[in-house]
Amino acid sequence: MALIRPRYGSRMIKHSSEKKLATYPEFPRLQIRERLGSGRLPGAGLMAMRALIACLLVGHSATAQEPRDLADEYRRPPAEWPAFIVDPGVQAEDIGPLQPLPPIAWHTPGSEALGKLLFFDPRLSGSGQLACVSCHDPQLGWGDGRRVSAGHGRRAGRRNAMTLLNAAYFERLFWDGRAEGLLDLALQPIRSPDEMNANIADIVARLESVGGYPEAFEAAFGSPDVSGQRIAQAIASFARSLVSSPSRFDRFARGEYARLSEKEIEGLHLFRTRAGCMNCHSGPRFSDGGFHHTGLSYYGRRFEDLGRFEITGNPEDRGRFRTPSLRNIRHTGPWMHNGLFTDFKGILRMYNQGIAFAARPRPGAPGLSPLIRPLGLDRGELEALEAFLGALGRKPPFMEPPALPGMAEAANSAKAAPSAAAQAATARTQGNTP
Ligand code: HEC
Ligand code: HEC
Repeated sequence: MALIRPRYGSRMIKHSSEKKLATYPEFPRLQIRERLGSGRLPGAGLMAMRALIACLLVGHSATAQEPRDLADEYRRPPAEWPAFIVDPGVQAEDIGPLQPLPPIAWHTPGSEALGKLLFFDPRLSGSGQLACVSCHDPQLGWGDGRRVSAGHGRRAGRRNAMTLLNAAYFERLFWDGRAEGLLDLALQPIRSPDEMNANIADIVARLESVGGYPEAFEAAFGSPDVSGQRIAQAIASFARSLVSSPSRFDRFARGEYARLSEKEIEGLHLFRTRAGCMNCHSGPRFSDGGFHHTGLSYYGRRFEDLGRFEITGNPEDRGRFRTPSLRNIRHTGPWMHNGLFTDFKGILRMYNQGIAFAARPRPGAPGLSPLIRPLGLDRGELEALEAFLGALGRKPPFMEPPALPGMAEAANSAKAAPSAAAQAATARTQGNTP
């Protein structure tokens, strides 16, 4: 075991080929611990020696030199990267490229194609005006670009519409985890009075009467019957197909070392070590899938939202929300369950201060996660972290809306009317009205 106090605390273990566990009991003293049985690691004594030698060699010019050395430590397979750091007791997997989703019986190409129609179709709502795509728009990072969504009757919801990218990788969906996977979730927004406000039986009847839909159900499921279960399966299949394409970070991790700048590599290292992000945003999806209180419960105040507690009733869950993925994060704002942040830098400042505004809680307020603490990052380090987060995915590409069954005629007749009116108007301005 070696105790070190570095700016980048992992110099001495750069040649290890095993994944290691590292912990920091209290900031900023880093304690790097080897996992038992990782035979190829150098012994602790040797590590301490190397640390000492490194310190002596680098001396006071360490700050200026390190980012370049650091880049060398990361331009190698992820198994050889410096150890990541999490608090004692935290189980974490390293960040890395997403593995393909395993096949699942209910997801077929046919159901996915039907699901796309349903996803874009406002006739699935009580008002006939709101589709899933109204709040999960590919051009807005598969969210709606608003702090909180506007649902049925433009009523403001209380939560921010989450991106749908990579939702299939989560066991528990929604900010409070109340849905167990996409199949369980699919009908909930349709029924919700704050979202699409519809009755499933009505929607089934409506789709049965639209020319083209029974045929689309037949193509997907082998018979033209429309049912709530089939609607759910089709929508879930489409949502399951929304996986973000490999980011610059993923390409870097697969050996394309030119994909990340040195600044971004510095950010990657901070993310995995001193910034403590890996305590919650870990693994290929950049989320532990768990629930944490990061200080945004507004306990006892106007916008109170106790998150996970509303589902479990467990007092420990007060103010906890699901750790969101950070993939494509620069393109899925506003951020947080309540859309509090429209300024990305503000989020990083907040974490850096240990979420200071929660330091004066109301009596009885739920405690902040013990994994949150002031980080002491300087401005350059915050910039590096921000740069790294920018390498986690691009703005999602445009998706052509599908031609919806029974809508072509409606669109044509709608077009016909204004064009007749326009002709009349043109005729009037030309002064040759008959
Ligand atoms: C009125 C806006 C609105 C509409 C319409 C809407 N959603 Fe959402 N969606 C939201 C909001 C807000 C959340 C977060 C809700 C929460 O956590 O309580 C969300 C969350 C989700 C999630 C969870 C993602 C995750 O990572 O956990 C999925 C999946 C989803 N919606 C799919 C759909 C589908 C499918 C439809 C259409 C059937 C739909 N939504 C319609 C606003 C909307
Ligand atoms: C204690 C666990 C925890 C730690 C540590 C943590 N986060 Fe978070 N993060 C969360 C949770 C939970 C949320 C959602 C909170 C909410 O909406 O109320 C979140 C939200 C975010 C968001 C907004 C995501 C979105 O889609 O709205 C960003 C960006 C973010 N975290 C980045 C970071 C960075 C960078 C670090 C390291 C400096 C970090 N987080 C450390 C748990 C954590």
